[in-house]
Formats: sequence, structure tokens, C-alpha cells
Amino acid sequence: MPERLPETLQQKLSDRLRYYDDIGIGGFYRDRGATLCLDAPVSTAAPEVMPIIEEPSLPKREPKSAQPVAASAASHKLEPVPAPSGPSLFEAAIRIENDTLPLIRENLGDCTRCKLHKTRKNIVFGDGNPKAQLVFVGEGPGADEDAQGLPFVGRAGKLLTQMIEAMGLQRKDVYICNVVKCRPPENRQPEKDEVMECSPFLLRQIDTIAPKVIVCLGSTAAQTVLQTNRGISHFRGEWLEFRGRKLMATYHPAYLLRNPSAKGEVWKDLQKVMAELGLAVKRKNS
Ligand code: URA
Repeated sequence: MPERLPETLQQKLSDRLRYYDDIGIGGFYRDRGATLCLDAPVSTAAPEVMPIIEEPSLPKREPKSAQPVAASAASHKLEPVPAPSGPSLFEAAIRIENDTLPLIRENLGDCTRCKLHKTRKNIVFGDGNPKAQLVFVGEGPGADEDAQGLPFVGRAGKLLTQMIEAMGLQRKDVYICNVVKCRPPENRQPEKDEVMECSPFLLRQIDTIAPKVIVCLGSTAAQTVLQTNRGISHFRGEWLEFRGRKLMATYHPAYLLRNPSAKGEVWKDLQKVMAELGLAVKRKNS
């Protein structure tokens, strides 16, 4: 008789299976030999049960609004945002020798550079492995993040955690941050001046961590980092380059909560990221 799994593990497994089901992956096998090849330490608690990677079997439904359309294979050159007054994001982001995350946090201080400071409870600087090979960039903190001072801890954050774990990683293996470090009131999109003030800190974070891959979650993150006003649907899922690093934009987990049918697209994007990082992406008959 096989031993029963402890209840907490059963619950975790069942959540994970539900997530795989959501993203359209239906079959599973046990792979005791599966390895994770990131330099960054990965959890020894990585699941033994790996998904069989197949095309998601979800109905191909056009999600609402302007989000998914087929990404153009030739869209590696992005149109710049109309020039803002003052220095561009890139000029503003000076490279600081021997920069560190604690120094960047110290320089940010008790920030009052933009109006978001008036309504925030906590600055949400970022969280995770300072030497991560993979950095996720979101838009800005929501209410839960503002309350806890940590990125992606609300509903969208839980989905992001599931996505990270589906990749065979844990949150502590990656670094998670946002374009703006303070919550925009009523979860509105961050405004241009707020992004301009905050993004030099984001760029310093990225330069300092020096990840192999950056994943931008949603259009605000992608448009800010790439300095483009093109819709994310034009370049989602494509490999782009940013300051010598590979960058991929995909849909924001909050968008996926509203449009679960897009989870399959995001999973395909994440599989490309896994392949780039040397994480095991196993196919059924390989
Ligand atoms: N959405 C984001 O973009 N960032 C967070 O930290 C949480 C939700």
C-alpha cells in the first residue's frame, strides 16, 4: 500500500493540479529525474509531478478588450513613446558602480517624489532573490501589497505564485517588483509623472540583479520598460532585448483572473522562459 500524503501536501497538490487544469494541461507523469538547471538556488521542494507540456486544450476564444492578438514575429523593434519632456528613462537611469539593492532602497528613502506618497501605507520596493536569473516586473502595488509592503501578495499575486511554481521554481528563487513602488489610489494606472519618478529605481534594480530574463507582466510594465506606446498584444510572447538582457512581456495575472482563457497563452510564454533558463520543459514522449 502506498503511503498517504500529508494533508497539507495533498492540498498543495490539488491546488497545483487545478492550476494546470486551468491553463489547459491535462496529463501528468512522475519524473524522478527532472532537474532544474538555474544557477540560482532552486527549492528542493520542487514538485516531482511535472506537467506534460502540450498545446493547451482550452477553446481558442478571443479574450475581451484589446489584449490578445497574434504577436508579430517581426516586432523586435518597438516604436518609442513620444519624447517626454526632461531626460528619457534611459538617460535618467545612470549605472551606479557597485550598486546594491539595499543602497537603491536607501536612496529611495521615505520617498515623496510623486503624489502617490500621499495615499500609500507602505513603499513596496520588491522582494526575492537579489541574484535571481528571472525578474518579474508588475505595474504597481494594490491594496494588499500596500498593506504588507510586499509585491504580488493579493489575488493576482497568488496566481503569479502558482505560475512561478508551475515553472518548477519558488518565489524566493526569483525577484518580483513593480514599475511604481507606491499604490495608485483605487488601483488606477500609474500616471506618466509617477512612472518617470519611480522608473530609475526599477532600472537600477534590474541592472543590479542582472537577471538572464525579465518578464514584464501587463502592458504598463512592458510599455514602461521598453519605452513604447505599442499595445502589448503586438509583442507579447516575443523575445525582446533590454539593456543586453532577454525580455518577454506577457499578460498580467490580474488580467488572467478576469480572462482565464488567456492562461494557456501565458503558459506558452513561460515555457519559452523556462527553456531559456534551462529549466526542464518535458514533453510527453521525450
Ligand atoms: N499588481 C501589480 O502589478 N503589482 C503588484 O504588486 C500587485 C498587483
